[in-house]
Amino acid sequence: MDYSIETQPLDKLETDCIIVGIYKNQQLSPSAAFVDARTHQLINNLFERGDVTGKNSETLLVSVVPGSSMERVLLVGLGEEEKFTPKLYRKMLGAAVKTLKGAKIKSAACTLAEIEIKDCDFQWRCRQIVEVFDSALYQYTETKSNKNNLPSLKKIQISCNAKNKNQATAGMAQGVAIAEAVGMARHLADLPGNLCTPTHLAEQAVTMAAEFSGMDCEVLEEADMERLGMGSFLAVSRGSHQPAKLICMNYQGGTAHSKPIVLIGKGLTFDAGGISLKPGAGMDEMKYDMCGGASVIATMKAAANMKLPLNIVGLVASSENMPDANANKPGDILTSMSGKTIEVLNTDAEGRLILCDTLTYAERYKPEVVIDMATLTGACLVALGRVPSGLLGNDDELCDELIAASETACDSVWRLPLWEEYQDQLKSNFADMANIGGRDAGTITAACFLSRFAEDYRWAHLDIAGTAWRTGANKGATGRPVPLLCQYLINRADAKA
Ligand code: BES
Ligand code: MN
Ligand code: ZN
Repeated sequence: MDYSIETQPLDKLETDCIIVGIYKNQQLSPSAAFVDARTHQLINNLFERGDVTGKNSETLLVSVVPGSSMERVLLVGLGEEEKFTPKLYRKMLGAAVKTLKGAKIKSAACTLAEIEIKDCDFQWRCRQIVEVFDSALYQYTETKSNKNNLPSLKKIQISCNAKNKNQATAGMAQGVAIAEAVGMARHLADLPGNLCTPTHLAEQAVTMAAEFSGMDCEVLEEADMERLGMGSFLAVSRGSHQPAKLICMNYQGGTAHSKPIVLIGKGLTFDAGGISLKPGAGMDEMKYDMCGGASVIATMKAAANMKLPLNIVGLVASSENMPDANANKPGDILTSMSGKTIEVLNTDAEGRLILCDTLTYAERYKPEVVIDMATLTGACLVALGRVPSGLLGNDDELCDELIAASETACDSVWRLPLWEEYQDQLKSNFADMANIGGRDAGTITAACFLSRFAEDYRWAHLDIAGTAWRTGANKGATGRPVPLLCQYLINRADAKA
């Protein structure tokens, strides 16, 4: 997709379609009023006839605009001005792009950045236009024979006044970087497990890092992990023929002495459950068990594209979890890199087994903060559904910053408690801890397990089991929590400036 900023008057733009917003109660946005004045009150007439009402996300494509140089006008309902919110803004943008997609239009000029929303500046609005449009136009084609069925929309002009041009340019640049990262995360996640293996993820990370002078990527092999004593991580990959990889990306955008932000992602390219085999129904969706890892790779790319003045380390713990004669078994006791021993009561609780050694490994970076993201527990879906990601952590300030970023990015999180009382559920008769904590509070006990390996730094954990992909007819990856992470990093960079 080609995005640009345009400051010319609307009727001078070369485009297939001009997108303007209209409110309920027959109120016109500035650009809608401009169009109305040059088309013999086209929009007011449509209101009078009742063909448009201005209800949020209602769209009407007017494909012949007599008496003007404009090819087409797409009217988009905004709803009531007083009740307008960031979520309604994004919903309305989604409706606009859906209508464009259906109409086989090649280029469009979007005036919707001018729509005022409380606490959201022009830059934010431009960024959202890019993010929402791009996301709606994403299409997975890799393993389909017909790769030509792509949307015809190729060019978006963001229209603005000269005085907003700088903000618009900055917002568009952020939007392009974030949208590209979201697309990358979705693509990696949508790829099937036979193509997207730990080796493939590692190759993608290496290729991505090579694009940027400020980034390098080192991949730890099983032999390296053996040497480091990662007995927990390696127990998971024992049941698979695919070798595990610990992908370590290092982005140096900040000063040499500033401590890095470490991002850790769960990269299970397929989770069959191991010997504690999962039931068959819906098991295909466990190809998405690498969404945390894909989000980390993609966010590293976005950070480098935005040239954020931060040091960021991205660690992706990648493996398959398969049943095999050599697989780890319920009752097995593992020794983690930290020296703590773990009784495996369920081999399907594998994410925490690979993450715990990665959390220990992160200590060597002397991190400012560590944030891990993982499709960790089905219990998170039970608790929170598919709306927010679960957030847990050992540091209130970090959690608050993530909550604030999630609100700005419209990529919501909800914090769950990580109280001491829950730790008891992990007691084992034979090891320092068990890898599961029983039926109650599964998301919290999983985070309790991780917290025991994150005692040396400020840490937060995102459980993205409910948010990283959609199930059902629209099955596919969402790219979450890439927008949240990017916003968090942008905020950190702004706080330093
Ligand atoms: N990858 C799954 C979690 C998951 C399940 C994500 C369903 C999305 C949808 C994870 O490895 C897992 O299997 N967790 C178990 C933990 C249990 C054995 C304590 C679960 O949630 O059932
Ligand atoms: Mn599992
Ligand atoms: Zn898993």
